[in-house]
Amino acid sequence: LRHFLTTEGLSRELLTEILDTADSFVDMGAKQIKKVPLLRGRTVVNLFFEASTRTLSTFELAAKRLSADVLNLNISTSSTSKGETLKDTLMTLEAMHSDMFVVRHADSGAAHFIASQVTPHVAVINAGDGRHAHPTQAMLDMLTIRRHKGSFEPLTFAIVGDILHSRVARSQIHALRTLGASEIRVIAPKTLLPRHIEAMGVKVFTDMRQGLKDVDVIMMLRLQKERMTSALLPSESEFYKLYGMTTEKLAYARPDAVVMHPGPINRGVEIESAIADGPRSLILDQVTNGIAVRMAVMSMAMSGQMVEKQLQQSAPA
Ligand code: CP
Repeated sequence: LRHFLTTEGLSRELLTEILDTADSFVDMGAKQIKKVPLLRGRTVVNLFFEASTRTLSTFELAAKRLSADVLNLNISTSSTSKGETLKDTLMTLEAMHSDMFVVRHADSGAAHFIASQVTPHVAVINAGDGRHAHPTQAMLDMLTIRRHKGSFEPLTFAIVGDILHSRVARSQIHALRTLGASEIRVIAPKTLLPRHIEAMGVKVFTDMRQGLKDVDVIMMLRLQKERMTSALLPSESEFYKLYGMTTEKLAYARPDAVVMHPGPINRGVEIESAIADGPRSLILDQVTNGIAVRMAVMSMAMSGQMVEKQLQQSAPA
């Protein structure tokens, strides 16, 4: 692993290695994440051009548990507001001997662009780019599912809500397919479904009760209002009535079905409080698992970088 930009096209072996590495960071007896020296002497820069609570905080905690030095650059007060280009900002941060950029950006493809600009010894991790990908979110979701259900093969999954604008849904679908999920359904109004979504190997439902029938894992999504034109924005009460996760609708799923949501949740818009806070909700487990998964991705990316650096140093001039 060098950069971690997407779950698309990664092998089952690599995704499983990320999950196994994440598990190795948890002291199962004490149920705590270990502090390890894998990134000692390394500098991780969190470059968040979009708001975040969970992803930014857990990347920072993960880097600290790996013993790295961490810099969170506040973009709103950085010199980008004085007209400095992204390329110049990157070169400036590289001059501080940065080893890794963790990037969140509103533009799809931003993390790939940054990965193409940095010098070869710097690793880039995508922390969410536009509506394209949020690969560490998908992997912490996979870890949460594996810990609760044991495996992916026999399970039916339903991803519900604003599929059109969701980088999380895209990364989840790629990861679930690679890890062998039996069936993946997407449930949404036609206006919030990407064209040709069936080509990703999913079954499409516009009726939530039909779509939830006998599913094992329900993955709710937030309405991504910041990426919608007003013409697309549904009425929140109408959306909740048709696509909100309620106790009544949950009864259509299997009796042991679990409910997930990447957060932030909008209570009474996508999900009823009784479910979000209830015994079948894994929402806070997802947050906790984000630390171990991000430790795994960062340590694997850095060891990939180390291999590359050694190869460069030993290469003839
Ligand atoms: N799930 C997620 O990306 O949450 P944040 O926007 O709070 O990071």
